[in-house]
Amino acid sequence: MKLILMLVCAGVCLVACASANYPVSPTMTPTPEPTRIPVLSTIALPTPRTQGPMSVEETMLKRRSIREFKDTPLTLAEIGQLLWAAQGITHPAGLRTAPSAGALYPLEVYAVTREATYRYDPHAHQLIVHARGDLRAPLYAVALMQDSILQAPLTIVITAVYARTSKKYGEERTPRYVALEVGHAAQNVLLQAVALNLGAVPIGAFLDDQVQQVLSLPRDHQPLYLIPVGHPR
Ligand SMILES: Cc1cc2nc3c(=O)[nH]c(=O)nc-3n(C[C@H](O)[C@H](O)[C@H](O)COP(=O)(O)O)c2cc1C
Repeated sequence: MKLILMLVCAGVCLVACASANYPVSPTMTPTPEPTRIPVLSTIALPTPRTQGPMSVEETMLKRRSIREFKDTPLTLAEIGQLLWAAQGITHPAGLRTAPSAGALYPLEVYAVTREATYRYDPHAHQLIVHARGDLRAPLYAVALMQDSILQAPLTIVITAVYARTSKKYGEERTPRYVALEVGHAAQNVLLQAVALNLGAVPIGAFLDDQVQQVLSLPRDHQPLYLIPVGHPR
């Protein structure tokens, strides 16, 4: 009887441990080769600040979706700070400002500005030029013509490479984990914008395939959120 009890307890413990460590689905598909992205040139970003005059409570109190912006461009320090809030590295082990299931970091963040579209490289805290020229008008056209995109000097585009997460967590949990992660990263950006006295709005209404086309995103970088940011009008 004692032996049976011990075996049952061991079984329960094994199941509990496995779920705490997010079990891998047995129906996992093979991970595709990551897309190679050409690097045109890079721009170093100023070291992000880690202290500021506004408390996190005040940023939450003041956060509101802002859709009208002045023409004033953002400084490189402001752009760097917002990208750092989204996915900056904050730990020697490569851990970031936003949590990630299994620390697999499926998110890739882009910055669309008047001058160019950049990809954020969190490891070097730098911008990688992805496409030269102003893509805000075509982006606006494929995002249901939402004026905030035309007006904002910066739109942060959060994309996800689902395969990074599905290789461990399988097809069933991955969409949920990636959606949760993009929410974490986006909220960091929205609160950071408030702390910089800027305004922002999270945009989910756009044509996925066309945003990918307009921004020449790699096939496996799925756009999930557009966040126009600027000085409130
Ligand atoms: C998932 C999601 C998608 C959204 N998509 C859009 C959008 O496409 N366009 C827009 O102007 N606002 C969008 N919003 C912002 C909401 O309209 C806004 O959060 C809501 O009206 C509440 O206002 P507040 O953010 O000022 O608190 C979205 C918000 C969320 C969470």
